[in-house]
Amino acid sequence: MKNSENMSQGLLKLLALDHAIDFLKNTTVSSDALTWKRICGSIATVLVILLFLSGAFMALYYSPYPGAAYDSVQYAEFDLPFGDVIRGIHHWSWNLLLVVMLLHMTRTFFTGAYKPPREMVWVSGVLLLLVVPLAIITGDLLPWTQAGYWTTRVRVSIISSVPVIGPFMVDLLQGGPRTGIVALTRFYVLHVIFLPAGIISLLALHFYFLRLKGLADPITPSRSPKRNIALLPDMVNRWLILFIVVTLAIGIATRFWFAVPYGDPADPSDSRFVPKPEWWVLFLNQLVSIFKGPFTVVGSAVIPGALAGLLLMLPFISRSPERRPVRRWKEILVAMLIAAAILGLSVMSWIEHFTSTAT
Ligand code: HEM
Ligand code: HEM
Repeated sequence: MKNSENMSQGLLKLLALDHAIDFLKNTTVSSDALTWKRICGSIATVLVILLFLSGAFMALYYSPYPGAAYDSVQYAEFDLPFGDVIRGIHHWSWNLLLVVMLLHMTRTFFTGAYKPPREMVWVSGVLLLLVVPLAIITGDLLPWTQAGYWTTRVRVSIISSVPVIGPFMVDLLQGGPRTGIVALTRFYVLHVIFLPAGIISLLALHFYFLRLKGLADPITPSRSPKRNIALLPDMVNRWLILFIVVTLAIGIATRFWFAVPYGDPADPSDSRFVPKPEWWVLFLNQLVSIFKGPFTVVGSAVIPGALAGLLLMLPFISRSPERRPVRRWKEILVAMLIAAAILGLSVMSWIEHFTSTAT
């Protein structure tokens, strides 16, 4: 403990960050901030850091030009030492981040931690849940593969079906009807500048409101008194251990067992290629295929928009101080019905796209 304290202090001194040392040492946080039951919030933080770090390394070799993007990614996969591991960490981190965010949201919902005074912690969380998929959508086009290219074409056509703003959005995103060099450049800039800036700002808000309002007390009062610990070195050390464990686990898993799937290079003339939806958009895909013709907008915008609105408004609708799940059975039942509908739609879409009996 003493050694690691000296190490982290030495590093900060080296960077002439004495004020930062004082600030971090004098700041205390609840010892509950990283416990097993609260592990998802910390894992999500680690995954975001990993996405930023691996993304920054990938930006060193990646070339956002249709004729070169695929080759630059292939170069990283096969020629660059540990290039495949860095790509793997980026790829599996966003997949895991989605899962971990959903688990984190489920816990904070069931324990009623979103209720006043933590409304803004929840709202900033929901906004993160909405912005991360935009990073995935823009990222999918970057490797310039058949799957990424044709998935983006499908998404662009869904966006263009949204009345009034749809065609304008498509113009803004790709400068015209074609998904070409302008689209790739804009998706890249959104992916590495604007959306990361949005994610950092929302995370700062999330942590600011967490600090301001504090963590929710246990639902059943615990006998052990609340304990605060120093941010540096106690909490930072816990986070460092988690960071190392998660990084090694994903790095080793992707190196030996789960290489990132990549496919053929994009061929914009091959319109016979039918992309398979990623697991997290299966339910949206099914919604879009249920509502056809003039009703497309119901599946593509109205229902997803209503769901997002409901999530954002939850702490303002359900304001009673009651946090025990049994006493909140009505809202829990509604949430379970919505979750079951999303799961059902996902299974339907999966059967349609992934089983051999699919047409
Ligand atoms: C929450 C944040 C992020 C998410 C969800 C995300 C997601 C993605 C996705 C889905 C891809 C396509 C390849 C794949 O399937 O893994 C990708 C590629 C890429 N990302 Fe990110 N990313 C994030 C942050 C960043 C940041 C901060 C940077 C740069 C500073 C970055 C740089 C890149 C680059 C250069 C590629 C293309 C290279 C390749 O695919 O090998 N990403 N990202
Ligand atoms: C990148 C995404 C996210 C990160 C890095 C993150 C991080 C954290 C951390 C570290 C905590 C404190 C420890 C804990 O309770 O787990 C926390 C608490 C909280 N988060 Fe998040 N979070 C994210 C997304 C979300 C989402 C999607 C929601 C809900 C929609 C949410 C709602 C909350 C709430 C309500 C708390 C307070 C919990 C309590 O007091 O018990 N967060 N978050």
